[in-house]
Amino acid sequence: MAGDIDVSNTMKLLNDAELIFPDAISFFAGRPPDRFIETARVPEWLANFVDRNKAIDAGAGDDAWLTIGQYSATNGIILDAVGRYLANDAGIRTTPEGCMITNGAQEAIAICLSGLVGRDKCVLAADPTYVGLTGAADVLGIPVEVVPDDGEFVDRVAHALAGRDAGRPPVGALYLVPDFANPSSRHLTTAERRRLIELADRHDLYILEDVAYRWYAYDGQSTPTMKSLDPFGRVIYIETFAKTFLPGLRLAVMVADSAVDGGTLAQQLAAIKSYVSVNSAPVNQAVLAGFLDQQGYSLADWMAPRRASLQSRRDAFDRALTRHFGSGANAVGRWDVPLGGFFFRLGIGTTFVVDDFLTCAREAGVIAMPMCCFSPAGGHTDQIRLSFSNNTADDIAEGVARLAGFLETHAPNSGRGQGRGNASR
Ligand SMILES: Cc1ncc(COP(=O)(O)O)c(C=O)c1O
Repeated sequence: MAGDIDVSNTMKLLNDAELIFPDAISFFAGRPPDRFIETARVPEWLANFVDRNKAIDAGAGDDAWLTIGQYSATNGIILDAVGRYLANDAGIRTTPEGCMITNGAQEAIAICLSGLVGRDKCVLAADPTYVGLTGAADVLGIPVEVVPDDGEFVDRVAHALAGRDAGRPPVGALYLVPDFANPSSRHLTTAERRRLIELADRHDLYILEDVAYRWYAYDGQSTPTMKSLDPFGRVIYIETFAKTFLPGLRLAVMVADSAVDGGTLAQQLAAIKSYVSVNSAPVNQAVLAGFLDQQGYSLADWMAPRRASLQSRRDAFDRALTRHFGSGANAVGRWDVPLGGFFFRLGIGTTFVVDDFLTCAREAGVIAMPMCCFSPAGGHTDQIRLSFSNNTADDIAEGVARLAGFLETHAPNSGRGQGRGNASR
């Protein structure tokens, strides 16, 4: 089965799996916990926006209702509010002209691929990588080149950029999830970030910095955003508000403030957004701006209980893995405890591909994602991605027990007694 998987179908599978197997325990999607989805407070945040009318240049009071009900500026109407947040929490000082509010990170990725890479170049990424990147590239007909996401990742990027022969397309952009990546959970150090920025400058390309999980650092690490470390204007910063605030708003901010042709890159990319989505729903933008204003333009307090909750889920997951896979006759797995993010990577020493995923969901009642679905190179066929972000402790204990039972039946001799450590072997 290795290599047979159509990566472009993975996102649909991701979205549909829980519908197909409604009674299964799902370790599938990287969703923030349901109990933190505070949609009922949307009227409060909307009213706050309208009352304060912080982010709208023209008029005051009632005009805000009109502004958010009409067509509006392509790159967004809350750029001042989001700019204040970025200055406080991301170490990024930018201008409204350098930013774009997008329909999630997904639209930002697609706009960058279309505007900065195109079909004559390729986008370089880690293997395994986020399916939102590979899927968007697929839709746009843009080649993806990958290098293994291991301890030598930065050297491998340097090598891929330096040794390009005439037969390979030039690299137009490097896509990175530097913080607790989906799906590998790998975290880049500050030194690695700086080196990648220097490489991007030397080879004249942009870095797409996707920071979806940067707020979920469990063991006290605080690594500067790549954008804040970039002296060259090479980093395009993409921050979704789906993992921190409300996924249903479908909002992200992209910072692309390098100077080009007398304006900014974000202004140039507006031409693409205007034909893709015209603008991001201004009502939704108003909710986000009203929320940011209420939080004093910092998510530090808001995120503290969320991070703590995810950390305790991660710890519960590690305990369950240790109980069922760590030692003894039933042990079949290897894993590293993720320092942040939403995912465990479980190495099982035998193949687990889409057929196994379906059998596991149907027979054992647990939904676990084959890592090979994230591998454009068709690798990682002996690993499973397990999300713990939206599961209760009971679900985690029961789901891991079911998975262990399934693997014991289907892969009884694989990786016996390995326990924690080095899932990627
Ligand atoms: C790396 C990464 N980027 C972005 C997203 C989400 O982006 P969006 O804002 O489109 O929901 C995810 C969600 O799974 C992700 O894992």
